Amino acid sequence: MRRINAGIIGFGTVGTGVVKLLTESRELISSRIGADLCLKYVADLDIKKDRGVTLDQGVLITDAEKVVSDPEIDIVVELIGGETIAKKLMLKAIENGKHVVTANKALLASSGSEIFAAARKYNVDLGFEASVAGCIPIIKSIKESLAANRIHSVSGILNGTCNYILSKITSEGTSFAVALKNAQENGYAEADPTLDIEGFDAAHKLAIITALAYGMTINLDDIYVEGISGIALEDIRYAEQLGYRVKLLAISKHVGEGIEARVHPTMIPFDNLFASVNDSVNAINVKGDAVGDMFFVGRGAGMMPTASAVVSDMIDISRNILSCTSQRVPLLSYRDENIKTIPVVPMDEIWSRYYFRFTVVDRPGVLSTISGILGNSGISIKSVQQTEEKKEGPVPIVMVSGPAREADVKKAIANINTLSITDGNAIVIRIGEDVSH
Ligand code: NDP
Ligand code: HSE
Repeated sequence: MRRINAGIIGFGTVGTGVVKLLTESRELISSRIGADLCLKYVADLDIKKDRGVTLDQGVLITDAEKVVSDPEIDIVVELIGGETIAKKLMLKAIENGKHVVTANKALLASSGSEIFAAARKYNVDLGFEASVAGCIPIIKSIKESLAANRIHSVSGILNGTCNYILSKITSEGTSFAVALKNAQENGYAEADPTLDIEGFDAAHKLAIITALAYGMTINLDDIYVEGISGIALEDIRYAEQLGYRVKLLAISKHVGEGIEARVHPTMIPFDNLFASVNDSVNAINVKGDAVGDMFFVGRGAGMMPTASAVVSDMIDISRNILSCTSQRVPLLSYRDENIKTIPVVPMDEIWSRYYFRFTVVDRPGVLSTISGILGNSGISIKSVQQTEEKKEGPVPIVMVSGPAREADVKKAIANINTLSITDGNAIVIRIGEDVSH
C-alpha cells in the first residue's frame, strides 16, 4: 500500500487529538483513502510531557524545522498557533512543496493573502477546515456543497469558549471567572483567552468564512468586534424575563452593495434555533439563493471535534496526492481572478433593536428625561421595566427599543451617560430577531 507521510507541529490539545485519531483509526482511514497515512514526526517544545498516546521511537522531536524540510514529508500539520513562528514554518513548508493543514484562524485572518498566494505559487494544497467552528464542515460546505448558490448571509455562534461561558452563567449561575477557567481546563480556550472573550477569535473565523462565502478580500480591521466581558448575570436574567438568550454572534450579510461584518453579544428570542445552542457547541446559519436557510450545529472547540476536522483535511489531501492533483477546488472557493473587493458597511449604518440597562437615581422625572433623549434621536421605546428596589440608592431601568440606527443610538447613549442622574455607563446589547429561524 502507498505510504503518505505527515508531520505534526504542536502536540497540544488539537495535536494530541490528531495523533489519537491517526493512530486509533489508522485502518479505517487507510480503508477510505487506499493508502497508509503515516505519522513520521510530531514536533513539540516539550517531548517529556505525558499526552496519553504512545508514539514509535524517533517520531517525537523538538525540531519543527525538520518537519518542514524532510523530503519524505508530504503533509505538514501546523498546530502550534500564534502568528510568528507558525507563519514562518508554514511558508517554509509550502516553499518546500509540502501540502499544509492548519487550524490557525488568527494567522489565516491576518496573513491569509500571503499564505494562500504562496500555496498557489507552489501548487500545494492548504486545508483549514478546523480553523472555523471545530468539527462543523462549514469550509467544505461553502466551497463545494453550496458552490451553486449566491450566498446572502452567514451568521453564527463561532466561539466555543464564549458559548460555554454564557451557557454556564445562564443555566447554573456560574461566575464568569469560574466558567472561563473550566473552558480553559476543557481545552476550548486560546492560549491567550482574551482572543475568545473579547470577540477576536470569532472575528478571525468570520473573516475566513466571509471571504469564502462572497468571493472577497476582507480586512480584519473592517469587522466590528465586541466581546462578552461586559455581560453581567443581571443582563442575562433581564434578557430571560424579556424572552431572550444572550449569545456571542458573528454576522456577515449582503446588504445592498456592501457586506455587514460584525461580532457582538446579541439577544436571541427563545424560539430562534441559536437560542438553544449551548455549551461549547457552535452553530452557523447560511442563507443561499437556491438552498434557502441551512443550519449547521456541532462542537466548536475541544480536542477530538477539532482533530476530526484536521484529519478530514489530511484525508482530502491524501486523495489528491493519489490522484496526482492539487487545488482541484480553489483554495478560497472562488478562482483567484474572480475575488473582488466589496465594501464593508460601517457599523454606524447598521440597524437593530436594542436592550438598554440604565442605573439611575430614584427620583421623579428620570424616566422622562431618558426617554426624551432617546425619542429626540429617533429611537422608539417598545418596553420599559423598573422593578421596585427595597434598598436605597441607584436603581436599574431596562428598556427595549424598536429598530434604530447604530449611530443614533451611540449618540443618544453618550448623551445619557453624561447626565447627573445616571450612575455609570448604560449597558447596551443588540437584539437579533432576523438571524435565523
Ligand atoms: P495548545 O497550546 O494546546 O498546543 C500548542 C502546542 O504547540 C503546545 O504544546 C506548544 O508548546 C507547542 N509549540 C509552541 N511553539 C512551538 C514550536 N515552535 N515548535 C514546536 N511546538 C511548539 O494549542 P491548541 O492545540 O489548543 O491549538 C492549536 C491551534 O489550533 C491554534 O491555532 C488554535 O487557535 C487552533 N484551534 C484550537 C482549538 C481548540 O479547541 N483548542 C479549536 C480550533 C482551532 P508550549 O505549550 O510549550 O508552548
Ligand atoms: N478558542 C476557540 C473557541 C477554539 O473557543 O471557539 C476553537 O476555534
